[in-house]
Amino acid sequence: MSEIIKWQSPSNIALVKYWGKHGMQLPNNPSLSLTLHKSYTEMSLNYEPSDGLNVELYFDNERNTRFEKRVSDFIGSVVDVFPFLLNHKIKIETTNSFPHSAGIASSASSMSALALCLCKLEEKVTGTEYDEAEFFRKASQVSRRGSGSAARSMYGAYTVWGKTSALADSSDLHAIPVPEVHEDFKLWRDAIMIVHSGVKNFSSTNGHKLMQDNPFSEVRYDIAFENVARMVDILKAGDIESFMDVTEKEALMLHAMMMTSGRGYFEMKPNSLNIMNEVRAFRRDSGLPVCFTLDAGPNVHILYPTSIKDQVIEFVEDRVAPYCENNYWIDDVIGSGPQKLLV
Ligand code: DP6
Repeated sequence: MSEIIKWQSPSNIALVKYWGKHGMQLPNNPSLSLTLHKSYTEMSLNYEPSDGLNVELYFDNERNTRFEKRVSDFIGSVVDVFPFLLNHKIKIETTNSFPHSAGIASSASSMSALALCLCKLEEKVTGTEYDEAEFFRKASQVSRRGSGSAARSMYGAYTVWGKTSALADSSDLHAIPVPEVHEDFKLWRDAIMIVHSGVKNFSSTNGHKLMQDNPFSEVRYDIAFENVARMVDILKAGDIESFMDVTEKEALMLHAMMMTSGRGYFEMKPNSLNIMNEVRAFRRDSGLPVCFTLDAGPNVHILYPTSIKDQVIEFVEDRVAPYCENNYWIDDVIGSGPQKLLV
């Protein structure tokens, strides 16, 4: 008899970036992110006993052999943690809330959703009972092995992954929620401007690898350590000016690493630059707290507090959306973490 488990798990955007890793998906520096609300993966996992491990994956109701390969490889790589997988047949059905072609990395939301399903499956099949904190810690650890940034999607609001002297409970193995967040940072929004929806020039996996020979990598790691510690203080103190300063510098430094890695490559597009310039001009002219960050691609995330939503949406519609592909952007907001849909 087959049974089903279903989770929804969000994407996240790093404010202090993870870029460079070693060993079994261990970060070369800690990172800190904001969990999103509307950008998520919904995944259901059907399972039944079988003679060996067998994985099928359906994306948007269609069998997808490319994702199936990545997911089966990942599942095959965590049988040390979940030996029972070796005699289960697993059928995964998954969808994203954002369009497949939006150019938004889905590995954080999909790998975290998968890790949550696997941890729940472990409880069901082996009778292990985790308390809530242990459950999410384990799911974060498992999802890290699928994609580093996925480790941070386990918790709402702001999350840190990687050992930092600023937080005693932090670890390279799993993420933890940022414990103290000032009221002024609790209701931030993220306007995700889709500059280009095609695939990136380089996968993140290759980008991380190229950091090994980047002449600036050691300096970069030192700065990232400092920036995580600073950001933990900034979030606690409600220091919006410093938040914007660190967030923008982190985004630009990430792309500076790409431009100085290997033969040097660009992930930004001319319109990414146009948008960043618009954001800075708007901030200067209006005096409002609006800043940008970038993921590893060309899309620009515009971050701002909900209290100025009307002014920012007007600015985005008038001056920024025209730089986006088909004027497309996603009006997202800080989220509260994964949700159990069916277990
Ligand atoms: C630039 O988590 O996608 O978004 O661990 O190889 O799957 P893998 O890499 P991934 O890298 C994310 C890089 C980043 C910054 C970040 O999210 O911290």
